[in-house]
Amino acid sequence: MTHIPAITGTGVFTPSQTITNAELVAAFNAYAERFNAENAEAIAAGEVEAKAPSSEEFIVKASGIEQRYVMDKSGVLDPARMYPALRQRSDDEPGIMTEMGADAARKALARAGREGHDVDLVICAASNMERAYPAVAIELQKELGCTGFAFDMNVACSSATFGIQAAADMIRAGSVRRALVIDPEICSGHLEWRDRDCHFIFGDVATATLIERADDAKGARFDILSTRCATEFSNNIRNNNGFLRRSRPDGVADRRDMQFMQNGRKVFKEVVPMVGQHILDHLAAEGVEPEALKRLWLHQANKSMNDFIGRKVLGRPPEPEEQPNILQDYANTSSAGSIIAFSKHSDDLGEGDLGLICSFGAGYSVGSVLVQRHL
Ligand code: COA
Repeated sequence: MTHIPAITGTGVFTPSQTITNAELVAAFNAYAERFNAENAEAIAAGEVEAKAPSSEEFIVKASGIEQRYVMDKSGVLDPARMYPALRQRSDDEPGIMTEMGADAARKALARAGREGHDVDLVICAASNMERAYPAVAIELQKELGCTGFAFDMNVACSSATFGIQAAADMIRAGSVRRALVIDPEICSGHLEWRDRDCHFIFGDVATATLIERADDAKGARFDILSTRCATEFSNNIRNNNGFLRRSRPDGVADRRDMQFMQNGRKVFKEVVPMVGQHILDHLAAEGVEPEALKRLWLHQANKSMNDFIGRKVLGRPPEPEEQPNILQDYANTSSAGSIIAFSKHSDDLGEGDLGLICSFGAGYSVGSVLVQRHL
């Protein structure tokens, strides 16, 4: 017997600290001035390229981002540092990803009227894991009092939807009864804050999605009608950090490629058509007309990107409420973005309404989840 999986609760952990574009640009420009002064001779000799300043106008126009939340702003905004300063934790206390993820998960459980011990699968699906092992998901399982088993998975910005597919398939097959997909994203850790081409892109957050059998739901739910995942290799978004770092020449040096790198223009041009077609193919396979969608909760990387995708899917510019953006407040939070949009902008849907969650990013990867509201 197969079971219909349903989303019965979501939760968002939002860090307490924000960085506005004005604060970000002031810190970057102070860093750039400092760099240029320190390297004045080499710059004059043409050996080093001078750093150009950043601007608030460019950031808003190019991305739609107005501010971002972070776990630590002091380190990021220190022109002599330019990355977060996090306290060292002992091995006997929960890690920072567990702390953030558990907060989001408790909110998701509360919305569904459930407790940790009701859950028998925890997937920690995120772009980066704070350590190699033991799995962050297993620490989350312990912290939340969940039973069963837990594992980590990483599909960059698509981690949440790929995690939802994995959990939904297991619920459908009966191998688990209730699953939490948790996405703690500390993007401030992998962002290169010293590069003006990308220093404005990311923010920190954690999201959680509780998935159970539709028959078990205590309140309103979103049935997961179907999921679709796709990948296609690309070097246009890449980070070379990894466990072999110290074994390679200059591996532990302060290298640009050990943080997030992207060819933003190419990403924009290649990913927009890929995602638009992916969604149209997914809907066609399910016999759903695009006009039947009440809402699109898209990955939150860039406002124009979302505008293009929405237009391709609906055949007309989407109304703001049909395709809510949260990136102006949160920036790109990797896999968590589409789940924040879903969590904050889905309670108003009515009985039978259809919607689609879609994430996309490095890999390339794209994942979509077709859902139907039941009250
Ligand atoms: N302030 C001022 N000017 C800046 C700047 C900044 N912070 N950063 C770059 N510029 C300049 C560039 O140097 C360039 O100058 P040039 O024309 O003289 O060469 C110009 O502004 C345009 O830069 P470009 O990088 O081509 O801008 P863009 O319009 O492509 O926007 C992104 C950049 C990153 C916002 C955009 O490409 C994007 O969102 N891409 C997809 C990103 C994405 O989704 N990534 C997924 C990550 S998971």
